Amino acid sequence: MLASFGAIRQNPLAFLDSTWRSYGDVVQFPVPAPPTYLINDLDAVRKVLVTNARNYGKATIQYKALSLVTGEGLLSADTAEWKQQRPMVQPAFHHETLQTIGAHVAVVTQRIIDEWHCLPDDTIVDVDSLVMNAALEVVGHGLFGTDLSSEANDLTQATLNALDVVIARARVPVSPPSWIPTPSNRKLHASVAALDGAVSNILDARGIPDVPTDMLDLLITAEDEHGRGLSPRQIRDQVVTFIVAGHETVASTLTWAFALIAERPDVLHRLRQESDAVLGDSCASFAHYEHLVYARAVIDETLRLYPPAWVITRNALEEDRLGGYRIPKGSLVIVSPWLAHRHPDAWDAPDRFDPSRFLSGEGPRAAFIPFGSGPRQCIGRDFAYVEAVLLMSSLVRNFTMSYPEGSSRPKALPLVTLRPAHGLRLRMSSRR
Ligand code: HEM
Repeated sequence: MLASFGAIRQNPLAFLDSTWRSYGDVVQFPVPAPPTYLINDLDAVRKVLVTNARNYGKATIQYKALSLVTGEGLLSADTAEWKQQRPMVQPAFHHETLQTIGAHVAVVTQRIIDEWHCLPDDTIVDVDSLVMNAALEVVGHGLFGTDLSSEANDLTQATLNALDVVIARARVPVSPPSWIPTPSNRKLHASVAALDGAVSNILDARGIPDVPTDMLDLLITAEDEHGRGLSPRQIRDQVVTFIVAGHETVASTLTWAFALIAERPDVLHRLRQESDAVLGDSCASFAHYEHLVYARAVIDETLRLYPPAWVITRNALEEDRLGGYRIPKGSLVIVSPWLAHRHPDAWDAPDRFDPSRFLSGEGPRAAFIPFGSGPRQCIGRDFAYVEAVLLMSSLVRNFTMSYPEGSSRPKALPLVTLRPAHGLRLRMSSRR
């Protein structure tokens, strides 16, 4: 492990990949504590996430770091807190929310289309920063509706600042406990305080709505079966969680989708045939979503090759057996969608970009886990699909994209999500 330290820091994803290929589907890392396992046996992955999920908690180093910003929001909440909150948060993702998300995506996409149509053909565009902004706007609109007050912007910005501080802390090998007043901890506390201030400003301005019109209203009015609502602190944690979990993940998916499509005129052609037939001259809306079947397969195949959440971690609450090995109580278990999505037992030619495999139903469910699986599966899965499918379909209908001379698909950097090294610069031309 000591010899591998440099390799882990340089590219943890390549390290996981070579560990799996060298040692197999269940690997124990030789670290002093806790016992740490990489699990890529597909039955064992299913056991951890689904069939024996109750034996696995979220008190891991990954989620403890995230909770410095997201508190006990659904993503980082450990079992008891999560059980109480998930049913109360679920209505924020119901059918009407998805319809509204479809409408917000249409507005954002139309603006991009109008701007790009004014550019001369063959202009090089940084697609990654463009979809990052678009995804931030969609999640912001989903949460706060048309309330584009400065408070909503302050909150979103404060969340991203606080997250940056957490990421910077995670890059150094040992971070001092957050109560020691080091410069980095002071920065963390200041950014979290700014975040808390921005949330209270919004909540104070809102009051209790008669009819909920956005996701924040749905959180404010949520009740459990005893008529108890979420506390202001719980609402704060969920709002921040949605921004963290629902922004970069969707943006990364779109970036990788365009990175793959730009290499494949055949895929672009088929996507266009579908979007021409389904969208006609109208803006993409939620009503179109279920008809954009090939686009959904392209997004699925993108999520298979570039799963934004490239690791999922759990702590074993009791001893278990995974892939024939004893996993002691207290172990750290690492499941990697990046690896499961390349398992040759489940995927034919795993490195090939082939959206049609999702039309033929290839791959067992346990081997496709971009949104996790089981009880802790992503609550924003449909939100993400609607956004990614509608935005991609509308853009390919209007533009042709290709790599500028001498450039090619970017390298994947495993940060909080899987990011393209140096963004994604593509040459855009209006379609004629
Ligand atoms: C392509 C986009 C997305 C990907 C790849 C993704 C991925 C994931 C994954 C892998 C998990 C499970 C983590 C685990 O089991 O430890 C998860 C959970 C979660 N995601 Fe997403 N996500 C996406 C979009 C979204 C969106 C748009 C939102 C909200 C607006 C969201 C909110 C959440 C929340 C709240 C959880 C925790 C659910 C729970 O434990 O009950 N995600 N996501």
